Amino acid sequence: MAKVTGLEGVVAAETDISLVDGEKGHLIYRGYWAKDLALTCTFEQAAYLLWHGSLPDEETLAKFTAQLKTYRAMPEHIKRIMDALPQDMPLMSMMQTAISAMSTGAFAWPPTEAQAMQLTAVLPTIAAYGYRKQNRLPWHEPLDHLDHTSNYLYMLSGKLPEAPHAKALNAYLILGMEHGMNASTFSGRAVSSTQSDMASAVSAAIGAMKGPLHGGAPSEVIAMLDEIGSKSNAEPWIRDVLSRGGRLMGFGHRVYKTKDPRAEALRLVTERLTADDPWFDLAIHVEQTAIRLLEEYKPGRRLYTNVEFFAASIMRAIALPTPLFTPTFTVARVVGWTAHLLEQASVNRIFRPQSVYTGPMPQETNT
Ligand code: ACO
Repeated sequence: MAKVTGLEGVVAAETDISLVDGEKGHLIYRGYWAKDLALTCTFEQAAYLLWHGSLPDEETLAKFTAQLKTYRAMPEHIKRIMDALPQDMPLMSMMQTAISAMSTGAFAWPPTEAQAMQLTAVLPTIAAYGYRKQNRLPWHEPLDHLDHTSNYLYMLSGKLPEAPHAKALNAYLILGMEHGMNASTFSGRAVSSTQSDMASAVSAAIGAMKGPLHGGAPSEVIAMLDEIGSKSNAEPWIRDVLSRGGRLMGFGHRVYKTKDPRAEALRLVTERLTADDPWFDLAIHVEQTAIRLLEEYKPGRRLYTNVEFFAASIMRAIALPTPLFTPTFTVARVVGWTAHLLEQASVNRIFRPQSVYTGPMPQETNT
């Protein structure tokens, strides 16, 4: 019998939240193309869509945005816990600890939209507070007049962000919000299916996201492009890696066997942001060269740029430090996680798959 690993092809739930079609390169959120939402919506609109199933009208959006802002500040006990954590604790672990400490009575089962809003609104504050603490930088409380994305950038840097930077990050956050039954979403739904609280389920999802096979590392793409350094070095460098059986960072995907739609949208956003940047020019050249050479060295494997490739370009263009890449992905994905937790509660049955016993049997017959 073939080894049972990785749950590949196993259907764990029916969902109305998103469709990921790896053959066609489609990513749909609640009936809308994710790439269109990324280019035309705000974080707040997309979050509302994922939680409610429809886009808000103007009045609803204004109320929703105002409510979201009221949840930005960290509760005092969370601040004290963050202050007590070791300086060198990974930021993702700090975020997980802080979110699990949100698990007070207000978060009791069943999950609610207000809980989803609280966790989504406070997570950027926790990430920024942890980052500034690690770097011994002074703290700036959230600013009420800024939208969700701009306020995140402000809390991280202590400066009001440039509008094009906020716009680019907004697009990245929307594209990172949701991606079907990925490992962290699955972990969150499994915890929630036991009727545990939403903060515990999100804390479990953060634990899954922390792993390098999931949270990804656009930093490796940046390192690769820095090492290639020039257009003339691209082909020999890539040939060298591929002929030694190495992997090119930012190419290939378990689900997408055609262009990753998130990469396509992020390319557009980066193009607008970095029109004259030689680094971006090099990135496009490396992309084209790599796709051609991957077909030569790995024929039929259908390897294209994945979301990490252009996420790297955006992160670099807005000067987001490397340790913030996975935490920022988490600030986006919490919207999808909480949408799934609300959906799980509406159809809940405890997750209880089976395993196949392959160990030894007792020598004697059971009497
Ligand atoms: N460079 C070179 N060859 C590759 C690459 C790559 N980036 N990706 C896959 N291949 C080759 C493999 O060597 C393998 O070749 P073989 O058939 O001769 O053995 C074949 O393509 C299939 O590879 P698998 O590992 O089976 O593909 P899988 O779908 O399991 O892996 C993964 C997907 C892990 C993303 C892979 O493509 C990879 O390692 N990419 C580079 C790292 C990367 O960019 N990660 C970010 C992913 S996106 C995200 O996490 C949000």
